[in-house]
Amino acid sequence: MRRKLLYGVVFCLAAVYILYYALPCDNGSKMFMVPKEPTKFIYDNKHRAIPYDENMDIIFIGGMPRSGTTLMRALLDAHPEVRCGEETRVVPRILGMRTQWEKSPTEKKRLANAGITGDVLDSAVRSFILEIIAKHGEAAPHLCNKDPFTLKSAIYLSQLFPYSRYILMIRDGRAVVHSIITRKVTISGFDLKSYRKCLQKWNQAVESMYGQCLRVGPYRCMPVYYEQLVLHPELWMRRILNFLELPWNQSVLHHEDYVGKPGGISLSKTEKSTDQVIKPVNVEALTKWVGSIPDDVVRDMASVAPMLRTLGYDPDANPPDYGKPDPQVSDNTLHLQKNKDLWQKREKDIFDKLDENKDKEAKNRYSSNSSVH
Ligand code: A3P
Repeated sequence: MRRKLLYGVVFCLAAVYILYYALPCDNGSKMFMVPKEPTKFIYDNKHRAIPYDENMDIIFIGGMPRSGTTLMRALLDAHPEVRCGEETRVVPRILGMRTQWEKSPTEKKRLANAGITGDVLDSAVRSFILEIIAKHGEAAPHLCNKDPFTLKSAIYLSQLFPYSRYILMIRDGRAVVHSIITRKVTISGFDLKSYRKCLQKWNQAVESMYGQCLRVGPYRCMPVYYEQLVLHPELWMRRILNFLELPWNQSVLHHEDYVGKPGGISLSKTEKSTDQVIKPVNVEALTKWVGSIPDDVVRDMASVAPMLRTLGYDPDANPPDYGKPDPQVSDNTLHLQKNKDLWQKREKDIFDKLDENKDKEAKNRYSSNSSVH
């Protein structure tokens, strides 16, 4: 009886092997089960392995530069389960190159003749973006990227990464342009000498990104208004975490405490928002633009930047009524105004430490990623 049972089991196993692993095909060749590509891992500073692949729920934050994109990513970086990190700069560039390769019929034909089809390119671009996002900062269960112009490619990205989500930062175009001009932020195509031309460019860029966000749909892309985020951080962070299906954590209301800390917010000396984002959420920047825009541009605002009205801003109000800040935000703003010296010193200390920390972080990460495999 036992022997019969044993024969039975052996027979079944052999049948399974033949059926699934070594069944001859029509052409006589053998068909083998191709093992699934092993999941890749990144390692945190405690050597814990975190798997990553294109099916992760990567978070992409974007919008016009100067729309609060760095603040948004800092608030998420303060969450213990999320890591965004600094702008990578290369992610929007590879996306731009991919668009160019597709746009030019001659180039497309040349590539196709070399066997480089759209699918091959997509797979290469996907791997490039994934590796950059996964490895340019500390490991975390939820990875996030903030390169403002990536949201110009939200539809394409949503196809490359089927579980990704998008946060589109929106801000009053007049404030954005005022910030670009006064802080001398160079953006290709923006003429920093002309409010009118910059507002037209803002309009064009926001129209494209907003359109992509709408097409990706509300389940995957959430527009967040900078003004509302800074006026009511708790309400908006609750909505945002809910949208991202992440648990609530109080740390997102005190991001300034996590600057430069392990598992917290890593900043770059070269990014233009670093000195602002180290501060608690405040409303200092809300209406700084009022009175700086030339009269003729103010008069033509509705036609120069029609997206203002589309997005719900009154183009003829200078300033519009954005609303009243939460008490905590008013306190933060008052505290910053009264303690300017203290915050200047804090800024200097943070900047002095940035290089030192960067070297250590990169070395640790490199040794973690290369020694645990
Ligand atoms: P201003 O230049 O008008 O001051 P981005 O990071 O997308 O370039 O956006 C920069 C804007 O975000 C800046 O606007 C900056 O003040 C604002 N910002 C950064 N940190 C902030 C904070 N802690 N509270 C409120 N606004 C902040």
